[in-house]
Amino acid sequence: MTSLSKEARELIDFDLKHIWHPAAQMKDYETFEPVPVVRGDGCYLYTADGRKILDIVSSWWCNLLGHCNTEISDAISKQAHTLEHVIFANITHPYAIELTKELLSVVPKGLVRFNYADNGSSAVEMALKMAFQYQMQIGNTNRTKFACLSEGYHGETIGALSVGSMDLYSLMYKPMMMENIHIEAPDMFRHKEDYPEKCLENAKKVFKEHGHELCALIVEPLLQGAGGMRIYPKEYLKALYDLCQEYGVLFIADEIATGFGRTGKWFACDHAGITPDIMCLSKAITGGYMPMSVVCTTERVYQAFYDDYSKNKAFVHSHTYAGNPLACAAAVTVIRILKRDKIIDKANETALWLTDELTKKFSDIENVGEIRHIGLIHAIELVKDKSTLNPFPSSERLGYRIYQDALKEGLLLRCIGDILYFNPPLNISREDLSKAIDITYKVIKRNLEQIETK
Ligand SMILES: Cc1ncc(COP(=O)(O)O)c(C=O)c1O
Repeated sequence: MTSLSKEARELIDFDLKHIWHPAAQMKDYETFEPVPVVRGDGCYLYTADGRKILDIVSSWWCNLLGHCNTEISDAISKQAHTLEHVIFANITHPYAIELTKELLSVVPKGLVRFNYADNGSSAVEMALKMAFQYQMQIGNTNRTKFACLSEGYHGETIGALSVGSMDLYSLMYKPMMMENIHIEAPDMFRHKEDYPEKCLENAKKVFKEHGHELCALIVEPLLQGAGGMRIYPKEYLKALYDLCQEYGVLFIADEIATGFGRTGKWFACDHAGITPDIMCLSKAITGGYMPMSVVCTTERVYQAFYDDYSKNKAFVHSHTYAGNPLACAAAVTVIRILKRDKIIDKANETALWLTDELTKKFSDIENVGEIRHIGLIHAIELVKDKSTLNPFPSSERLGYRIYQDALKEGLLLRCIGDILYFNPPLNISREDLSKAIDITYKVIKRNLEQIETK
């Protein structure tokens, strides 16, 4: 601590005195102080005390093409000198139109109506309200419940928590939440034997029992990110979609974490060849530059809201920063770079290489229960006992300790429990990935040894 520069010390001291950080027990910050980051470049962050940190998690999964990418920065800068923001009610602008044209060219076919907001949870809230109102307005007034998957995560506002399944985020707020129907999601790590028979049976049973009262099903397609980077088969996604079709239930794809190439295709739904009724996008849409989200839907859903004013069918939902031109400029640039530089194809090649490298490197650590990946997202799940797949006691806080240790070594590597993951910018180099692998290996080994010698 004494080696910190004066600037770094001042930043940290002020922060500890006044700032309340997301998703943290602030007492932990006293023994593990916040890192004062002053600059970003590519996959690297630079601190006030001259350290260089490799950001392997794309700064919460949004920084799709590296920090301070000149093209995106320039586009925002140009936009800031043209039109920075304008109310989006009754006003349009070429920047939102350009973005909507770009989105139309990449989203699953049939999604033709776009409603903008400014963060992931807001998009989920909007999708839930849109689905609910749709059902009411087409006369399905009994369809008031949502179905969702166990271990699902859709954000942390009350509606989003209600369709999530993670007590870590929601237990305290249960009395405020809506009651929904939770479907057991496939656990392809600990209960692979349940798939497909038991899992599909489960889902069918839920639909048989509750299908008539369901307004929509919301899922994170293929990847349950915050739930532990759990990956399930595309056939399961398709089966859920088919059940929705059969029972007249809207299918909402929350692609906030999976969109824009993260899973190896533009959208995770593309793997299953489906067009959801409603799709939520955020995070990578602006490459992590500006807060933005969008809810995309079909003409059929849109038409249920379209009528004379006096019929009270309008979707009365708004966010101040809807269609913000700076965010539009960033998003247009991101989509054009992805297309022009064939970033997703290249990321898929990198992903194959990375899978090989991780498998080779970590095969001698017996506490590595599984290395799994989808697209360029890789997760390493640590277990106490590989034969039973039993986890370490949560009181060990193993993942958290590894995360802290990695940060000291110059790697921003986050954990979910004892699951460590890479979710880097899609254009990361193999050299940087090799560096991340080496540090990860070193800190995992070191922390496991410390547990053994306790
Ligand atoms: C699948 C999913 N949905 C929704 C959200 C919420 O997004 P935000 O943090 O922008 O509210 C997240 C955030 O991690 C997410 O992963």
